[in-house]
Amino acid sequence: MNAKRIDGVAAATRVLQTVRQDVAELTQSGVQPCLAVVLVGDDPASHVYVRNKVQRAAEVGIRSLEHRLPTDIDARELLSLINTLNADPTVHGILVQMPLPPQIDEASVIQAIRPEKDVDGFHRENVGGLVLGQNVLTPCTPTGCLYLLEQVLGELSGKHAVVIGRSNIVGKPVASLLLQAHCSVTLVHSRSKDAAALCRQADIVIAAVGRPRMVNAEWIKPGAVVIDVGINRIEENGRSRLVGDVDYDAVLPQVSAITPVPGGVGPMTIAFLMRNTVRAARLQNSLPVQPAAIR
Ligand code: GUN
Repeated sequence: MNAKRIDGVAAATRVLQTVRQDVAELTQSGVQPCLAVVLVGDDPASHVYVRNKVQRAAEVGIRSLEHRLPTDIDARELLSLINTLNADPTVHGILVQMPLPPQIDEASVIQAIRPEKDVDGFHRENVGGLVLGQNVLTPCTPTGCLYLLEQVLGELSGKHAVVIGRSNIVGKPVASLLLQAHCSVTLVHSRSKDAAALCRQADIVIAAVGRPRMVNAEWIKPGAVVIDVGINRIEENGRSRLVGDVDYDAVLPQVSAITPVPGGVGPMTIAFLMRNTVRAARLQNSLPVQPAAIR
């Protein structure tokens, strides 16, 4: 085993162990955390994601409800289901699996979810709360990235982090979390001038652009820690395989630590979804809510 390789499966297992204890405690006090997952249509990847979420929930003692709706559903029917779930006091988390079919506006669906049940952390109120440094539900993948960084580096204060990509689900929230952890943060994107030179200044690199192996050795300062959020399917030597946004083999000699793809950031997303479900259940029952990040 390479000592530089950050094991996301092992890290997710540790997080899930603490979640299992939290769930047991809450359940004993009369509140069993419950996650409702809504799946619209028949996208095969979404089906796999939803199955994994439901399975992981069962493993930690979280009750889950699965709502499957046809592709051609009317937006009003979906919003009506969300309203029902919003009003149900036994449901603590609502996750609508993205992407949604083109006739449905994703933004209005996200806004329809009660912020206290928004376990994705995508609602405007939670996005705003994150930027203000409040203890809100934060997006799962970015929170998982912070967890891995803290495991590897301990204190993040004063580090220079470069985030490649400015998406609403990874780039922007992970930049906010890094700032809250007292990093200096640079966001690099498609209009940046000399992205490689900016990235070469980083103690921490978070790559989240969705471009296979875009980040090569020339982008990386010796000793940097690299978190690769990309999951790209490519054809290589006649075979289909998953690769990240970082050319893992090329940068490995230079980094102090790096997440592989698969087996790095991926498993963290579900682990922090489970943690957010527990936090949501506490929030809705006026119990103290543990902070988004854990050490
Ligand atoms: N589709 C792919 N990733 C995600 C995610 O994190 N949350 C939701 N709701 N849908 C997704």
